[in-house]
Amino acid sequence: MKDGLFSEHFSVNAQGHLALDGLDLVGAAQEFGTPAYVISEDAVRGQCRAYMQAMKDAFGDRFKVSYASKALCAKFIYPIVQSEGLHADVVSGGELYTAMQAGFPASKLHFHGNNKSDDELRQAVDCGIGAVVIDCMDEIGRLNAICGQRRRRIPVLLRIKPGVDAHTHEFISTGHNDCKFGFGIEDGQAYEAARLLRGCEWLDFCGLHCHIGSQVFLKEPFGVAADVMIRLLAELRRDGLDLRELILGGGFGVRYMPEDRPVPVSEMVSYLGDAVRQSCRMYDTPLPEIVVEPGRSIVCTAGVTLYTVGSVKAVPGARTYVAVDGGMPDNPRFALYQAQYDACIANKAAQEKSEIVTIAGKCCESGDLLGRDMHLQPAQRGDVLCVFSTGAYTYSMASNYNRLPRPPVVLVSGGRAQVAVRRESYADLVRNDLL
Ligand code: LLP
Repeated sequence: MKDGLFSEHFSVNAQGHLALDGLDLVGAAQEFGTPAYVISEDAVRGQCRAYMQAMKDAFGDRFKVSYASKALCAKFIYPIVQSEGLHADVVSGGELYTAMQAGFPASKLHFHGNNKSDDELRQAVDCGIGAVVIDCMDEIGRLNAICGQRRRRIPVLLRIKPGVDAHTHEFISTGHNDCKFGFGIEDGQAYEAARLLRGCEWLDFCGLHCHIGSQVFLKEPFGVAADVMIRLLAELRRDGLDLRELILGGGFGVRYMPEDRPVPVSEMVSYLGDAVRQSCRMYDTPLPEIVVEPGRSIVCTAGVTLYTVGSVKAVPGARTYVAVDGGMPDNPRFALYQAQYDACIANKAAQEKSEIVTIAGKCCESGDLLGRDMHLQPAQRGDVLCVFSTGAYTYSMASNYNRLPRPPVVLVSGGRAQVAVRRESYADLVRNDLL
């Protein structure tokens, strides 16, 4: 195989099959059925360690790495990231519930969301959440009242729009001004929210948060955002607010295609360290505790999705469709963002990728594709297709469209595979149908 094997976790075994941490993926397809998500625990741990080490090098002992649950949220992920020393963020009552069910310490969670319900806020306060990241004005009073009723003071941060264009797909860029998240600086909303927070007896205003976008391949936007945030921290400090924490979000790009060149974690974090210290000097303000919130870059390249090829249809004058037994319900990212993936036929991994094909799903929808014009070995019915870099935003964004049951998540640990999340059954599909 020419390309595609872009991490040391993949290899081609003696049978010519693709293997993940030594696990034969053709065998895994037989054992667990397809479609199936397969994720390498070692690869996830490797990314966690890379962040922890880089942050330690850049910031000494005062930092946090917080796993953004939304990238892949299921119980099994929490003990893994926790044992590597990470915190985590959640964005809904459901993610919070999952983390708590997994035994993750609530004090190491922070809670995001642009429209948290009162129930979600109560749930967060009652479990002893580490912090709530406030996203809109009315949340301030609502949360203060909930905390007051319980006589429990909780740390809060303000989500700020630093107004940075992160040069990424418009749908996944959340830092610029016309965006539903957080408070603007130039329009005065951030100062107004800070003023309101001062008057809240039950809210311990401890810091600021920003997130400039996702799948960002440049370092500079993070430096610009850090500068904007530290200038604001310094201003608020002059007004008497002692903000000790600065969360700079996630969004660090990962490799989907062989030609992608994401900034290595160590380089990105060291750049961030320099940028942060320089801004602190410039605005004459002490270094806050710096937190990063990577999601995709923790889990994405650790995971693959396995499918079985059902039909190969050459449409004369157009293209060849290789149809698989999953599609947009297990991975909506092509349909949503025209996301590109690299793939390989796992049982022909040693062969040349001599064809250019379009991979189609099995849904009744023309846009149900996993990729257009992809390089692939010659495909035939029964082959096992492996799509790379699907550890993030696939299982967590999966649906039951066309009533396809969600695939299982298989965790590979040291070459041994276990089902971490069971495949949904048809009975699961009708479980909540009452009439
Ligand atoms: N922190 C906050 C506040 C976020 O909104 C996000 C992602 C992250 C951290 C983690 O970003 P990451 O490191 O994973 O890039 N569904 C889209 C991605 C949406 C990202 C939303 N926020 C996709 O499939 O590409």
